Amino acid sequence: MAVDKAADQILRMEHITKQFGSVYANRNITFDVRAGEVHTLLGENGAGKSTLMNVLFGLYQPTAGDIYVRGQKVKIESPAQAVKLGIGMVHQHFMLVEAMTVFENIILGDTRSAGIFIDRNARRKEILELSQKYGLDVDLDLPVTELAVGAQQRVEILKALYRGCDVLVLDEPTAALTDVEVEGLFEIMNKLRSEGKSIIFISHKMREVLRVSDRITILRAGETVVTVDIGELTGEDLATMMIGRQLVRSQYTKAESKEEIVAVLDHVSYHKNSKHNGLNDVSVNIRRGEIVGIAGVDGNGQSQLAMLLTGNIAPDEGSMELKNSKVAVFDPNAFIQENVAHIPEDRNKSGLVGNMSVADNLVLKITKDKRFSDGNGFHLKKKAIRSYALEMKEKYDIRCSSVDQEARNLSGGNQQKVILARELEAAPDLLIAVHPTRGLDIGATRFIHDTVIAQRDIGAGVLLISADFDEILEVSDRILVMFEGKIMGEYSGKNPPIDEISLAMAGK
Ligand SMILES: Nc1ncnc2c1ncn2[C@@H]1O[C@H](COP(=O)(O)OP(=O)(O)OP(=O)(O)O)[C@@H](O)[C@H]1O
Ligand SMILES: [Mg+2]
Repeated sequence: MAVDKAADQILRMEHITKQFGSVYANRNITFDVRAGEVHTLLGENGAGKSTLMNVLFGLYQPTAGDIYVRGQKVKIESPAQAVKLGIGMVHQHFMLVEAMTVFENIILGDTRSAGIFIDRNARRKEILELSQKYGLDVDLDLPVTELAVGAQQRVEILKALYRGCDVLVLDEPTAALTDVEVEGLFEIMNKLRSEGKSIIFISHKMREVLRVSDRITILRAGETVVTVDIGELTGEDLATMMIGRQLVRSQYTKAESKEEIVAVLDHVSYHKNSKHNGLNDVSVNIRRGEIVGIAGVDGNGQSQLAMLLTGNIAPDEGSMELKNSKVAVFDPNAFIQENVAHIPEDRNKSGLVGNMSVADNLVLKITKDKRFSDGNGFHLKKKAIRSYALEMKEKYDIRCSSVDQEARNLSGGNQQKVILARELEAAPDLLIAVHPTRGLDIGATRFIHDTVIAQRDIGAGVLLISADFDEILEVSDRILVMFEGKIMGEYSGKNPPIDEISLAMAGK
């Protein structure tokens, strides 16, 4: 087979197949990367993007196929070997060691520290220089647990650069970043590209993909559909190639609910002097039959609002009413009993139990249901659980080889669908949805919007928190803007004044 036809080709994956049991995560994929380009991998949830990158990074061995780096055929048997070949990767779910500091994480596995002593000062200087050069601003001495998502990501990138990569894989780097952080990341990517480094970029956000990519390879169900130059393509063109059919534009009707109020926050404060993690005199009503959208830059109290409304924290001042009774004890289990559903912000920490099966995760909150046990959560009816799980798999299009598969082996987006199925099927009275479509592809996002609206239409009160302004505008019946822990304004979801809302989001 001819290798490396284009002189600037730095990497080539040829006829890569990766099987997990009977599942083909990748099938006969051929894909190349040139020096100094941003090459995007685009595909639906479960299309095989992360798997292909894990093969490249030496985490998985391909079932078949070859990899060429700078024209040489290589066998990449471990991440350490990938690093030696100049390949760096920032994973979809970060892999930093939480108990260590930023500095310790970055030098972890540094192959030059073969002796007992590492010249910490020299290393430090080197890292600081890199961080300055690329504008990767992080405090080296903080423990990783204290870092926000954006900062953790900068550490991951810094770590990859410190190890000296020519090809950097970024697997959904923007999913959890604020708009400002995304801009910062794009600047870093541009800088790397201008130095001749290559980036393999993965994202479900078409606007980003169109903006940063030089070329795009589209995967569908584990196979390559096509590699295209960015040229004159539109987001719709890409979506059509990705899904294999055209997605019609959605137009949701906005409700004006006059139904009963299901939850009330009355002058609630929580750590109110903390601008970014507090709530300051917040009053909110949520009625049945409406979707209240919270617009705002992430980190302005939205997380605390969601935690409060799901009983995970208690207010310092003010009170809450749930279904016409005052909440005395803030306890998440009590809220679940009251039929409050929660699509949590961090689905890895609080959404799924990774080493349990998909089926068991789906019934996690309803094991006492007579359908699934003798009524007290013992003696589970395995068959009933399994057939329910199969029904959910179908309904929510959860792509897995079997419902007995461990949840952690699902692709990122499909893990999210498991949580959504569990929370939305409960026909909640109150639904607190935090970034419900983060990491989901276009089709799945559409499905989730449809499902949340269907819940609204059968009487749920919904609070939607999203950093995606378009999502807020598309589905909210009423929009509240949060800034530094305060509600800045309220707007109707019908023809909302976009400019005014944008200003309110910036505290103006
Ligand atoms: N360790 C594993 N064991 C079994 N199946 C796996 C494993 N890892 C991945 N898969 C399966 O391989 C397929 C591709 O998954 P992958 O994570 O590569 O998708 P993806 O394109 O990155 O999706 P997403 O956009 O949701 O992150 C999925 O069907 C997934 O369930
Ligand atoms: Mg993935």
